[in-house]
Amino acid sequence: MVGLGPKPPPSRKGSFVDVPKDLLKEIEELEQLFTVDSDKLKQITNHFVNELEKGLSVEGGSIPMNPTWVMAFPTGHETGTYLALDMGGTNLRVCQITLTDQKSEFDIIQSKYRLPEELKVGDADELWEYIADCLLQFVETHHNDINNVDKIPLGFTFSYPATQNYIDEGILQRWTKGFDIPGVEGHNIVPMFEAALERRGVPIKLSALINDTTGTLIASAYTDPTMKIGCIFGTGCNAAYMEDCGSIPKLAHLNLPPETPMAINCEWGAFDNEHKVLPRTPYDMKIDADSPRPGQQAFEKMIAGLYLGEIFRLVMIDLHDNHEANIFANQDISKLRRPYSLDSSFLSAIEDDPFENLSETADLFQNQLGITPNGPELELIRRTAELVGTRAARLSACGVAAICKKKGYNECHVGADGSVFNKYPHFKARGAAALREILDWPEKTDPNEEDPIEILAAEDGSGVGAALIAALTLKRVQEGNMHGILHPENFA
Ligand code: BGC
Repeated sequence: MVGLGPKPPPSRKGSFVDVPKDLLKEIEELEQLFTVDSDKLKQITNHFVNELEKGLSVEGGSIPMNPTWVMAFPTGHETGTYLALDMGGTNLRVCQITLTDQKSEFDIIQSKYRLPEELKVGDADELWEYIADCLLQFVETHHNDINNVDKIPLGFTFSYPATQNYIDEGILQRWTKGFDIPGVEGHNIVPMFEAALERRGVPIKLSALINDTTGTLIASAYTDPTMKIGCIFGTGCNAAYMEDCGSIPKLAHLNLPPETPMAINCEWGAFDNEHKVLPRTPYDMKIDADSPRPGQQAFEKMIAGLYLGEIFRLVMIDLHDNHEANIFANQDISKLRRPYSLDSSFLSAIEDDPFENLSETADLFQNQLGITPNGPELELIRRTAELVGTRAARLSACGVAAICKKKGYNECHVGADGSVFNKYPHFKARGAAALREILDWPEKTDPNEEDPIEILAAEDGSGVGAALIAALTLKRVQEGNMHGILHPENFA
């Protein structure tokens, strides 16, 4: 399959012959709970298309469909030096990107800083101070005399749902991905960030606040003009695409030229918050109820990396505590009881175990959890991981198919990034298979043939994408397009 890299090694065959009846029954029940068949995928996709439309309407819906004020695709001829800050779910990354005179080429230097867990649920000022410190350190390292540096334009990738009346504004709608910092929701984060920079004397001016999906869309289109959608399948999950202003009723009052493009950050993690179509299991409901924002991000909570390990963990606990099968009987499962103790790399490792006897999975359970599963339990563990991972990939495809249906894209490339997309075994192939089912493509005659819609690894959205968006914004301001600019003085 094009874009999927070298052929994977033959996978293990696996067999349930030695699995006793009671465990087999549990496996079958899990299969029923977690399998999403073609008809259901189509039903979800059709509902998704309507919800995308609703999000663009004046009344709105649960998918926010945030206009981003990114109003053009790059030509490949953008130039200049920009800083990019990426406040992701796990790390802070600061980059300096130079878009060179060579078409679609760039140089990048970057530093990563760990985002301490306590900052994610702590005090807002501490977060902004920490970010300003990282930026100061970066600028001091790469510029000799920071007192004599002109303010450097920065693209800030802030990957949470934010209302943007302007590209240099972002009113946080709600924290996602487990963040819970009081006093930020409902406020424009840009002045908070700028005040921290000011206090530290960091010579930076913010040119654009960006979502990681919009960055991914623009960075991917820089090198491949057939890229029409940018997706993130990582700690969180979301997509952005280019809409025409004339198709965004909630912006009609601004009288923007109808053909002008406007990137929309869908925030599709909120799809089906009202629980109309997604086949939620009791495990999904528990994750939601115990999360810092119950009722929010229904779709994301079934798909994103932050939750995959947790879904799996809840299944294991349930089968130990409440089911006749009583897996891990008489063992100390206290480590397994710790919420969020298994991340998606734990599931990846299970699905990657090449051995028929699942010895790597056994080691993993032993080393990380102090549990010694027997042979049939290992089979159940493997099957559960497959079910959770497969469901995530198949549901993801519904979002991509919905945007393509809405826009009438029969053929295009979709740029995707994030740990789940890049590292989770079979995620790409399972997603591609689901797209084929949803969109009724005929079977391939030649295995090397491209699919009409291919989801491919994206360029670096929160680095190069952020720099490009800063460049595109400076360019349009210079050309006199002042729509969605709050502080023109920063673009002089
Ligand atoms: C956020 C989005 C982001 C996605 C991927 C979600 O939780 O709401 O803004 O694009 O995660 O990082």
